[in-house]
This record gives sequence, structure tokens and C-alpha cells, in this order.
Amino acid sequence: MPPSADGASGARIAIIILMVLARALGDPAPYNNKNFHEPPSGHVSNVKNVEYRFAHSIYNVSIPENSVGKTIAVQPSYEDRLGITITPELDVKYRIISGDKERLFKADERIVGDFAFLAIRTRTGNVILNREKIDEYRLDIRASISRRDSKSKIIVETDTLVVVKVLDTNDLSPLFYPTEYSISVPEDTPLHKSIIKVTAEDADLGINGEIYYSFLEGTDYFAVHPTSGLITLTRPLKFTDRSVHELVVVAADRGSSNSNRLSQASKAKVHIKVKQKFNLSIFIDIPWKGFYRE
Ligand SMILES: *[C@@H]1O[C@H](CO)[C@@H](O)[C@H](O)[C@H]1NC(C)=O
Ligand SMILES: *[C@@H]1O[C@H](CO)[C@@H](O)[C@H](O)[C@H]1NC(C)=O
Repeated sequence: MPPSADGASGARIAIIILMVLARALGDPAPYNNKNFHEPPSGHVSNVKNVEYRFAHSIYNVSIPENSVGKTIAVQPSYEDRLGITITPELDVKYRIISGDKERLFKADERIVGDFAFLAIRTRTGNVILNREKIDEYRLDIRASISRRDSKSKIIVETDTLVVVKVLDTNDLSPLFYPTEYSISVPEDTPLHKSIIKVTAEDADLGINGEIYYSFLEGTDYFAVHPTSGLITLTRPLKFTDRSVHELVVVAADRGSSNSNRLSQASKAKVHIKVKQKFNLSIFIDIPWKGFYRE
């Protein structure tokens, strides 16, 4: 066989391999211009090459009609949490860019761990949601992500649509936002140290708006401050005894007669993972064991 034929078949094989590879890797995800704005060039350079964006192009929340100011619209529990996963050096600001001509709503951010939750709430003042008039709002939300150390410099902006359904019920229970918290703590965390703060907000004003936090079931390990929602450690953690603690915090307002107002929205789940501490004496006794520890 002449060498030129060898070269040609080599090239053909290479092309076939490339085609198979391309097929295996699949088509690239469709690039959605509406939900991702290219940042001005040069602004991304010092940030990890991660796309910070909403996981969904539409989110759904609901809010009771006649809600007073500062009522937070709630998400159905089966939907993915509303917001953006970020890294600690970043800050996120949310704003409503359209769909709210009457300026009834406000977009707030609340960063818990690596997630910037987006809360849609009614503004303070004489906000009246009348279901008979409008039963659904479609809010275009823009997230502006910047570095914590230079807030004015926006790295990236990304949009999503939040559909707000106005419900014909009016339950003014305190609302947790978010309704789930997760945190890892080292097992040598000192006693009385703050672990995490939970927050519920009541749409009621005055005395009825004062919220009291407690655990649904008693625990020896943690205490929750009744008015601040701060959870602290009350007993030393030991990874080998228990590696995860699951707590449920209940929020009640002073006006609530009893547990009859404990709707789902006034409970928050708190997952506390215990991180095993590297134990030097184990390492000295049986050195190889140490390789499995952080
Ligand atoms: C919100 O509802 C729409 C339409 O029902 C659906 O396509 C979308 O996936 C929902 N959003 C989330 C985050 O589940
Ligand atoms: C470390 O390991 C030793 C031996 O297993 C044990 O006696 C000691 O209590 C451990 N120290 C901590 C801080 O867990």
C-alpha cells in the first residue's frame, strides 16, 4: 500500500473517532440568551469559571390576597428552591425589572451558606392584592452578582421569571424563609457557640408580629433563642455518637391561640452535619487511619 493511502485512511479514522466522540458528548445545552447576559469583557477574569444562574427559567410562588405589607410569597414544597448557588466571595442583589407596574412587590435576597435565596414579598405601605382584579403576576427578576470586596463591579447578571399566584385564602402565620437550613460544624465546636440563625417573618404587625422560636422536639445538643432564632450548642458534639442532627424549629406569634396556627410554613428544618475532627492520637497509634480524615 502506498504511504499516501495510509495517511488518507488514518485521517478518515481520526474523523470517525471525532464524530463518535461528538455524538457521545451530545449536543451542547441550548444557549438561552434571555436568561444569561454576557458580562462586560474583562470582568470575569478573577472569578472561577462557573456559570452563576437560576436553575429554572420559571418559578412559581403564591401569596394570599389582602396580604399586608412584607408578606413573603411561598413556593410549593416540591419545587426547587428559588435562588442561585454562589460561592462565599460573591454577593447577589435581586430586583424586579418588569411585571409589577403598580409596584406591589419587592425582591429580597437572603444568603444562607452557598445559596442566595430570592424572596418575593409585598412592599410595606398600603399594598392590596385583590384576586378579583388580578390573580397572577409575572415578575421578571434580575440577579446582579458582584464580588463582596467590590460591590459596584457586577460580574454577571442573570434573569428568571417568577409567577405569583394570588390565593383567595388569608393565613397570616409566621413564615420561615428559607424553610430549610443545612450546615456542617466541627465536632470540637465550643459550647454555647452560635451554629446558625433561622428567620421567620410575620405579616401581622404589632404584638401579633412578635415571633417566638422553639424546637418541635426537645434536644440536649442545641438551644434556640426564643426571639432571635439563633441556634447554639449546649452539649459537645461527637461524630462517632451522631454524625447528623435533624431539628425542626417552630415559629409562633404571640397572637396565635395555640398550635392550630402551625401551618407548614411556620416550621423550618435544620440539618446539622458533624464534621469529624482529625485526632492526632489515633494518627500516632494507627497511622493509616489518619488518611481517611480531613
Ligand atoms: C413553574 O411552573 C411551570 C409551569 O407549570 C413549570 O414549567 C416550571 O418548571 C415550574 N418551576 C419550577 C421551578 O418548578
Ligand atoms: C482521640 O483518640 C483517643 C484514642 O482513641 C481518645 O482517647 C481521645 O478521646 C480522642 N480525642 C478526641 C478529641 O476525640
